[in-house]
Amino acid sequence: MKGSSDNRYIVFLGAPGAGKGTQAAGVAQTLGLGYIATGDMFRQAMEMDTPLALQAKSYLGKGALVPDEITIPMVLENISAPKFKGGVVFDGFPRNLKQAEALDKALAEQGKAINKVVYLKVLEAELLKRLGGRWVCRQCQTPYHAVDSPPKVKGKCDKCGGELYQRPDDTVETIKKRLEVYFAETASLIDYYAKAGKLYEVDGTGGVDEVGERIAVLLKGL
Ligand code: AP5
Ligand code: MG
Repeated sequence: MKGSSDNRYIVFLGAPGAGKGTQAAGVAQTLGLGYIATGDMFRQAMEMDTPLALQAKSYLGKGALVPDEITIPMVLENISAPKFKGGVVFDGFPRNLKQAEALDKALAEQGKAINKVVYLKVLEAELLKRLGGRWVCRQCQTPYHAVDSPPKVKGKCDKCGGELYQRPDDTVETIKKRLEVYFAETASLIDYYAKAGKLYEVDGTGGVDEVGERIAVLLKGL
């Protein structure tokens, strides 16, 4: 998987726990693209207590979507930044029809478009198992799993040595809510991108490397 052209925009779509963060950050690095993960952006803002954090905190805590008035400008400002000019891998955005249309419009205004949407499909029982055992790096946001993909040193990130923690929205109640929100608001994007001929469904089950290999084949030549 080696990048060849400019202006590549890839969206990772999938339910909470499908493996978006696990796979998308690596794809961005391999292809030399920018990486925009809206959940990570909100959590980083919360670590630093920025004004954005105040607005986002209650929504993340409840497992609800942060309002589009906050989320859409935050992303669109970023895609215009010079460091993202070659292309971007999106993780967790867009999350509803309004966000998808806003992204398409903003890219079209720059003569660009989304190339491929990677839809990671994982059954609900597996999602619950994954989220229940997840640990995340407080510094670089890399996700681990206590059993399936543990860090080399317990409690420490392999990549940056940061402290691992369990996300406050990974409780049974909030996971349930996030899944409800996904099916009510985000799952319709599967159809939206299928109709646009951009949707590529990937079996998200199996080991992390196995899933990564499937994605690499799909994005070959991009
Ligand atoms: P966000 O951070 O995007 O969370 P999410 O969509 O619920 O997805 P997750 O991060 O939980 O799952 P993932 O698919 O990244 O899985 P991961 O790779 O970590 O959003 C959080 C909140 O922010 C939202 O609820 C909302 O409030 C707000 N927000 C964010 N974006 C927004 C937007 N656009 N609009 C409005 N609000 C927004 O993997 C999960 C676990 O499984 C890990 O432990 C991992 O190690 C393990 N794992 C991964 N792959 C495998 C595998 N193949 N086999 C075994 N284990 C695996
Ligand atoms: Mg994630």
